[in-house]
Amino acid sequence: MELVKQIHGLKGKLAVPADKSISHRSIMFGALAQGTTTIHNFLRAEDCLSTLSAFKELGVEIHDDGTTITVEGVGFHGLQQADKPLFIGNSGTTIRLMMGILAGQRLSATLYGDDSLNRRPMERVMAPLRQMGAYITGAYGKEFPPITIDGNPQLRPLHYEMPIASAQVKSAIIFAALQATGTSTIIEKENSRNHTEEMIKQFGGSIEVDGKTITVTGPQTFTGQTVTVPGDISSASFFLVAAAITPNSEITLQNVGINATRTGILDVLKQMGADFTLENVDEKNQAADITIRTSSLKGTTIGGEIIPRLIDELPVIALLATQATGQTVIFDAEELKVKETNRIDATADELKKMGADITATPDGLIINGPTPLHGAAVSSHQDHRIGMMLQVAALIAQGTSELENPEAVAISYPHFFADVTALTEEK
Ligand code: S3P
Repeated sequence: MELVKQIHGLKGKLAVPADKSISHRSIMFGALAQGTTTIHNFLRAEDCLSTLSAFKELGVEIHDDGTTITVEGVGFHGLQQADKPLFIGNSGTTIRLMMGILAGQRLSATLYGDDSLNRRPMERVMAPLRQMGAYITGAYGKEFPPITIDGNPQLRPLHYEMPIASAQVKSAIIFAALQATGTSTIIEKENSRNHTEEMIKQFGGSIEVDGKTITVTGPQTFTGQTVTVPGDISSASFFLVAAAITPNSEITLQNVGINATRTGILDVLKQMGADFTLENVDEKNQAADITIRTSSLKGTTIGGEIIPRLIDELPVIALLATQATGQTVIFDAEELKVKETNRIDATADELKKMGADITATPDGLIINGPTPLHGAAVSSHQDHRIGMMLQVAALIAQGTSELENPEAVAISYPHFFADVTALTEEK
């Protein structure tokens, strides 16, 4: 597909799509609660629809009237045996969180995904769940999907120091701990996104968080709620970077989620000198409008505690760095290698094709800038975030760019290319 180019800069307002992490969890909590949960602004993208259909297969009634989603909760003991293996598509969040949920159920289930998901590591979830008494195996005794879980309603609590910073692993353990009898403690390596913890409280459960230590006592019950999903800062990040690097731009991104465990991109934009402001800050829903303009940028260093707070934004941050003066070093980001694709290699390889000065390292990227980009034939590697990053790069590239497998963007942002076109039209 030929990618969109800009001529007049980016102008206008955009309500970015709903948060993917919160949308997944709203279905999960809604299913496990007693009573009805109503979800406003649910993300109808492929990943979250995988969660929705998996819970339907497990006997949960879920209705979509086109505006709101209604989940008829069955409680922690009401999921039913599915009559076939559950197809999870591309969604790491779905499969990993469901492993924790299913570990304590009175049923068995097999979960599998597309080629990308079936290559992603699951031992990181299986190991702690097994310590809790879960019966869980990967295909051929290995750690990859299909994963089969034979539920054990007598799960034991766990004391676990996490070897990696991962909200998916943390959330899987929390879901199992909510079903175990007794108190579990989980110590995070670094603080990762806390949507699971926040939703436990929202649904009437309890969880304590003290720095990096999480304490949760089971068994618990939840009550159905009304959830309003804010916009996804990870989806917004493509436009934050697009406006910052494209001459003659000023855009406003509306209702962007600003949960502090997700705003690493804003910290980096600030460090690099980007010109942006937050308005209409809604403390309760943790959302704000962000206006960002063409910016004069400088290189920076990104590593340590900030990494989990911007993990999904690193490919587009690498692109941002190609337009900054000086060197940007990204380190401590080896987790990028086990995302939908190896995002360290994919980012470096594809941006090099467009003329960037970028080098992959074992745990990150080194970028020297500013470098003018030129059009090229590039590939999404079937990864939504690599595809969107390359479209943003193409906006400022000299000449046209062709993207292979553009359809991958529908995993998190089905209307992405239409939104790019709308912001680049002359105003
Ligand atoms: C997510 C956690 C992160 C992130 C993913 C969504 C979540 O993954 O990359 O896109 O919703 O919990 P890890 O837990 O593997 O870091």
